[in-house]
Amino acid sequence: MKHFATIFYTCILLSSIFSYYLFKKEKRLHKSRAKLPPGSMGWPCIGETLKMYTQDPNVFFTSKQRRYGDIFKTHILGYPCVMLANPEAARFVLVSRPHLFKPTYPKSKEKLIGPSALFFHTGSYHACMRKLVQTSFSPEVTRKLIPDIEKLAISCLESWANGQVINTFNEMKKFAFEVGVLSIFGQLNKKYTDELKENYSILEKGYNCFPLKLPGTAYHKSLKARKRLNHILGEIVRENKENKFSSNLLGHLLNFRDENGNALSDEQIADNIIGVLFAAQDTTASVLTWILKYLTDDPKLLDAVKAEQKEICESEHGETWSSTWVMARKMPLTYRVILETMRKASVISFTFREAAVDVEYEGYLIPKGWKVMPLFRNIHHNPDFFAEPEKFDPFRFEKPPTPYTYMPFGTGTHACPGNELAKLEMLVLLHHMLTKYRWELVGSSNLIQYSPFPVPKNGLRARFMKEL
Ligand code: HEM
Ligand SMILES: *[C@@H]1O[C@H](CO)[C@@H](O)[C@H](O)[C@H]1NC(C)=O
Repeated sequence: MKHFATIFYTCILLSSIFSYYLFKKEKRLHKSRAKLPPGSMGWPCIGETLKMYTQDPNVFFTSKQRRYGDIFKTHILGYPCVMLANPEAARFVLVSRPHLFKPTYPKSKEKLIGPSALFFHTGSYHACMRKLVQTSFSPEVTRKLIPDIEKLAISCLESWANGQVINTFNEMKKFAFEVGVLSIFGQLNKKYTDELKENYSILEKGYNCFPLKLPGTAYHKSLKARKRLNHILGEIVRENKENKFSSNLLGHLLNFRDENGNALSDEQIADNIIGVLFAAQDTTASVLTWILKYLTDDPKLLDAVKAEQKEICESEHGETWSSTWVMARKMPLTYRVILETMRKASVISFTFREAAVDVEYEGYLIPKGWKVMPLFRNIHHNPDFFAEPEKFDPFRFEKPPTPYTYMPFGTGTHACPGNELAKLEMLVLLHHMLTKYRWELVGSSNLIQYSPFPVPKNGLRARFMKEL
């Protein structure tokens, strides 16, 4: 989800000004025996934000980790922050003590997605919404979507193979969006799908911009699109009040009653739907884009993956396409390519929490109000857990990774409830792509853009051709 990474790409200087005051305050706060973790806080006014922006953020984290160890403090975007770069610490924050660390997002972003979306919450509201989302994206429910996901994959691929150069990331986003809509609403009529698509794309353009509410700014347009989305979703809800027993997310949201028998408000329904669309799109699309890049870079591996896919003959089709689990077993190499891509690219390179109280961990003090960042990418690139971490080697997943060293979908109370669906749609698309198409990359593909997820420059330009 963008919000984890994007926060880095917004409002650098202005927020740094606030940091000065926070910094002064935090000095007075604590008299506990535990000491703050090592690290440098940079200049109070600019924090270390500028440094982080002028370097690749991953290089920044890694050089800090080398200098100070796995747990270190820094100061970014106006907030004092503790970075955690080892599995035990990530587990402590996300799994064993989640009540001490609450999710935290800038208010401006919360407003765009919708403040009632589950990932902004903790406690009983979060638990209820999460259960709904988990049930709606469970393997039993998603498996029924397979034929429709296949249709979407086939039609996307066909649209690419018209001789034109495509921006792979943008095209993968369209696919992921359609799959998102399908899994949230079931079959939704084209009018609504188009309206959602158009307005959502305006919404997301403002997400990474400076949150200035002046007419003409991207943020302002984005807020207006968000209002229109409420309107569209309201209409869809009204039309579907009778369909509340369907097993998709909309059905579950409509059917929900709390302990007092109250239904969810339209706003809670809308915020959670936009939240899921948001969580589902760029994540999946960037992983798919990296898969294409890594496969193209390794022709021998590509041949092996193609061979595996061609083995899955038509007669077996029905049986293979019955769940993510069965597919992963029938196409182990393809599945490991996905796993290794999620490790190497680590598109969600870290997440944010905020200490709800003063917390002591391993003799260090994490003061109340400080941000805490488990650094997934650093853990995924630690040679102690993944030998030669820069090498793309799907075979390393022949052995399951040590617990908490591999967290592409996060872990604990906020771990990704869409991971089954994500893997399923990637496998389906890859199957059709590898058996019926070939492609070539256009232009240089070795630079990275942060959009805000890392993807190859220009979204990886490619030309697709149908294989005869
Ligand atoms: C390859 C694609 C995906 C990746 C890498 C990914 C990764 C993640 C990660 C790392 C988190 C946890 C964030 C945190 O702890 O702060 C998360 C949460 C979430 N993801 Fe995904 N995700 C993907 C696809 C999807 C899809 C397809 C859906 C749609 C159902 C989805 C829905 C969600 C939701 C709703 C949350 C918030 C859960 C909560 O706060 O309880 N994700 N995802
Ligand atoms: C956005 O949604 C509205 C409905 O609220 C619709 O009329 C419009 O065509 C959609 N697209 C754009 C670009 O505004």
